[in-house]
Amino acid sequence: MKKKVAIIGVTGAVGQEFVQTLKNHPWFEVTQIAASERSAGKKYVEAISDPNSGIVSWEIGGEIPDYIKEMTVKNIDQIDVSQLDLVFSAVESVAAREIEAKFAADLPVISTSSAFRYEEDVPILIPGINDEHAELLEFQKKNRNWKGWIAPLPNCTTTGLAITLKPLYEKYGAKKVLMTSMQAISGAGRTPGVSAMNITDNIIPYIPNEEEKVRKETRKILGKLKDGKIEDADIRVSCTCTRVPVIDGHTESVFVETKQDIDPDKAKELYMESNKSISVAGLPSAPEEYYVFHEDPTRPQPRIEREVGGGMTTTIGRVEKEELFEHGLKYVLFSHNKKMGSAKGAVLLAEMLYKKGKI
Ligand SMILES: NC(=O)c1ccc[n+]([C@@H]2O[C@H](COP(=O)([O-])OP(=O)(O)OC[C@H]3O[C@@H](n4cnc5c(N)ncnc54)[C@H](OP(=O)(O)O)[C@@H]3O)[C@@H](O)[C@H]2O)c1
Repeated sequence: MKKKVAIIGVTGAVGQEFVQTLKNHPWFEVTQIAASERSAGKKYVEAISDPNSGIVSWEIGGEIPDYIKEMTVKNIDQIDVSQLDLVFSAVESVAAREIEAKFAADLPVISTSSAFRYEEDVPILIPGINDEHAELLEFQKKNRNWKGWIAPLPNCTTTGLAITLKPLYEKYGAKKVLMTSMQAISGAGRTPGVSAMNITDNIIPYIPNEEEKVRKETRKILGKLKDGKIEDADIRVSCTCTRVPVIDGHTESVFVETKQDIDPDKAKELYMESNKSISVAGLPSAPEEYYVFHEDPTRPQPRIEREVGGGMTTTIGRVEKEELFEHGLKYVLFSHNKKMGSAKGAVLLAEMLYKKGKI
């Protein structure tokens, strides 16, 4: 029998992506959905329609899946936890603090928000990168006297960076990183999101709180779990996060200094080798190739890369030796913020935890 799941924040940018990803999922079935009081009591299709223009804001493209169209959106208090096995949460972090703790008292919660990411007994999980940190969920459960736990994904900008740094950190001792992001509009969500007047023909050079998140999260994700605690990785990250007029997918320009010598050929070999041992390979939402490495200097490009591996592949290109450092590389990466970076990544995480018997 399929596990019964709820999507909280189902009308939002990430919520819509959950709706799409969970359509005909082999292990999970969406049985309850919730959003804010603004949407509660409405049929899903009504809740995502603009009351003034009548435009249905289904941002995924294609048709809204039939299973959800007529489902009624609940408010948080109407969710019946006794009829659920798992909650996917996609609400902004202030609201998420209360909502996620309430559900975790009874159920496992997989979250795309930052509400609990920086707490000692909470891992920040990227399936395929730091699966072993999932053991911290047992400590969390005991610590907080909950029946469930909260497992957050990182910020969508950290995702691509941590994924590409992991093999470099382990094999070549990545120690300092400089990164500039070019982040998609959908990363800012729908409420209120980025206004068309601000982003069209423009670049916004500042995203509140984003850079601090990337710095802290990268160190935690690449860290080691020891005696119920994560020891941060010995890596320093400095970044500039910008918003650009691209609909979906974050591009990042990365400079990394390593302890050991590395060049583009070794990097290619490393990522291709890493592809062979990715833990989540074969799971329903996993891509065929976790890493794609391009020698064509015109890649990665968001319009091409966002389709690769169903949005779950991390693309690496423009790889060159960085002469500013004694040893190091520069490269450009692409990672899909709503697929690997949030909803579909959260479903892949659920699949990984299900296989481990944690759901
Ligand atoms: N967008 C991305 O690419 C991305 C990537 C990674 C992580 N995230 C994180 O994922 C979370 C969701 O982001 P988003 O971009 O999907 O935001 P969004 O488009 O603004 O959607 C927010 C959702 O939360 C609901 N909501 C707001 N307050 C609520 C409350 N008090 N109770 C119940 N539901 C409430 C909204 O419902 P209504 O429609 O009824 O207002 C909507 O469904 C955020 O924490 C964000 O930082 C986003």
